[in-house]
Amino acid sequence: MTLWEGRISTGMADAVAEFTVSLPFDRLLASDDLAGSRAHVKGLGKVGILAESEVASLVDALDMVEEEFASGVFEFAPGDEDIHTAIERRVTELIGDVGAKLHTGRSRNDQVATALRLWCRRSLVGVAEEIMALQDALAQRALEAADVYLPGYTHMQRAQPVLLAHHLLAHGWALSRDVDRILTTVDRLNVSPLGAGALAGSSLPLDPDYVAAELGFHGRFENSLDAVSDRDFVAESLFDLALLGVHLSRMGEEIVLWSTEEFGFCTLDDAYATGSSMLPQKKNPDVAELARGKSGRLIGHLTAVLVTLKGLPLAYNRDLQEDKEPLFDAVVQVSRALIALRGVYETATWNEERMQTAADGPAASAIDLAEMLVEQGMPFRQAHGLVGGLVRESLERHVPLVELVAAHPDLGEAAVELLEPGVAVTRRRTPGGAGPGPVAEQAERFVRRREVDRTRLAQWRPQGPPA
Ligand code: ARG
Repeated sequence: MTLWEGRISTGMADAVAEFTVSLPFDRLLASDDLAGSRAHVKGLGKVGILAESEVASLVDALDMVEEEFASGVFEFAPGDEDIHTAIERRVTELIGDVGAKLHTGRSRNDQVATALRLWCRRSLVGVAEEIMALQDALAQRALEAADVYLPGYTHMQRAQPVLLAHHLLAHGWALSRDVDRILTTVDRLNVSPLGAGALAGSSLPLDPDYVAAELGFHGRFENSLDAVSDRDFVAESLFDLALLGVHLSRMGEEIVLWSTEEFGFCTLDDAYATGSSMLPQKKNPDVAELARGKSGRLIGHLTAVLVTLKGLPLAYNRDLQEDKEPLFDAVVQVSRALIALRGVYETATWNEERMQTAADGPAASAIDLAEMLVEQGMPFRQAHGLVGGLVRESLERHVPLVELVAAHPDLGEAAVELLEPGVAVTRRRTPGGAGPGPVAEQAERFVRRREVDRTRLAQWRPQGPPA
């Protein structure tokens, strides 16, 4: 059965069906489509287009279909082109003529846009919850790390020691921007397109504000053409997921490096590492590598949707069906990456000895020597030159820096203390800095920030987290 038997005389050629069908992927929209249909039917009842009894039997039928999906007994028919067709077909099978009234005043164009927004809303909320769980793991590991430190790098060269907690929380803050971005995207997409019809609204007295409220949207569309053709929310969601993917990629890259023998900063738990099919001695960081690798595909999905959208005239065009696979895949891939990477962080062992030894070279305190001279009144550029000269002399003459510092009239014993292992990191005192004082304060701010995010997220889960 097609939905347009009146106008188009023959059935679809097989090749057309095969090329245009979206059911294999848009079946994920089943519960959202059912929610949209329930609201639509109630809306038709409210304005008197459907009798109360018709509304009741349609809602019952939609509930039955939901039940069939939930218990896995829903049967698709060969002609079901997409999930919307399948559900309408089944409702009509169940209740006959009344079922044939379901699509009154509606088009698949406003229907699919509605269902996709609902899907996006709940899926993004789920992703944000997974991000917060990863943040929990980072916060917990930061807390446990206490005053362990490691080299901080610029240009991949050792620069200054930083607390391990500081380093872990750096990723935590990037992730909190992801949560924020996702929440603002959800807020912006929470507008109902239902009632826009195919493109122009309806001659029937529909009430789009009512159905919008029924579906928990902030409000309804302003313009019916825009309502059915707008996929900004898909592009925005994909951007949020791509950037989140880039963050996970950078974290993955770091775990890959840290777990090399060359760095040796961490050892992965066996459950979160893999072996080699050939080389018996190997333990590989595949989770971290895939967290890095998947970002390519996430960026690709964003690009694909932007390119699909860019040449489309108003209003609905079938090209828009191409919005779903990238979006669905991005959510699945990112969610799995978040969960797996969380496990990596929860179970990795930090090799504190290696981290600290790497950070303890006397040159790591060079800036502290220069700043000590600055406190004695020397202009910074001059202090920089003096200490740089000592480092060079130490390297060229193979004399330990400590000896040169001890012998220098402007430096001496007080300066030598700065070169002791573990001292430099304690001297980073400024707000947001890498030393113990500011990191303790930062950790508190991180807790507070996440409390705020949790409250914001809870608004989108009125019934609490899913079972
Ligand atoms: N499966 C279609 C999509 O995802 C539903 C809308 C089809 N509308 C139409 N006028 N052919 O976009």
